[in-house]
Amino acid sequence: MSTPGVLSPLEKEKHLAAAAALRWVRDGMLIGLGTGSTAAYFITELGAAVRAGQLRVQATATSLASETLAREAGIPLVEPRRGLRFDLTVDGADEIDSQLRLVKGGGGALLREKVIATASDYLLIIADSSKAVPQLGRFPLPLEVVPFALPWVMDATAALGGAPVLRRDKHNPAQLAHSDQGNLLVDCHFEQLTEPEQLAGQLQAIPGVVDHGLFLGLARAALVAHGEQVLVLRA
Ligand code: 5RP
Repeated sequence: MSTPGVLSPLEKEKHLAAAAALRWVRDGMLIGLGTGSTAAYFITELGAAVRAGQLRVQATATSLASETLAREAGIPLVEPRRGLRFDLTVDGADEIDSQLRLVKGGGGALLREKVIATASDYLLIIADSSKAVPQLGRFPLPLEVVPFALPWVMDATAALGGAPVLRRDKHNPAQLAHSDQGNLLVDCHFEQLTEPEQLAGQLQAIPGVVDHGLFLGLARAALVAHGEQVLVLRA
């Protein structure tokens, strides 16, 4: 495990969980690479193992940012194609409950993340302790939305109690945030997600919603770091 410089306690936990995920990787695997700061630690660790000749893997990334990072880290990349399945995908999450239901998309990559997660035999989530929650819903639920449909998606999600907010670019708040597909991102502030399965169906049924950040029945295990310890949660 590489040792990054001075890290905050949460960053240390992210790094610890990411480094622990390397133990799930086997030689020859095809790996899905997640997006976000925790996934970035994993990509860096995996790249170091590849460059050192300890592991031979191929990978596909869930965002342009992760793709750039993976390329810089020396991880061989494969393009999407029919029949491609991933042995393992390692990704972060914004919230994880005890049934390993997830809220994802804080980094705006929810669509590609769900595509790759669904094409994976094993989705492993890596997270710091702040992500494990008794109930989903504190973190706003992201949606990827086709620009033309935005006004009606705002109306429909407001009617569901989602208090939708159009996401702005975090580096330039005068601009709207866009996904890698050029779509808009809407963050829905439901107070609590008591029925995530029902809500997932309602959101998916809104024309113009490309996808939502609820990942249900996809994660097989989660590595959640608490201080110096990494807990393994299984579905
Ligand atoms: C990006 C995601 C990320 O996995 C999620 O936002 C967690 O990010 P981080 O590891 O930076 O806390 O879903 O779309």
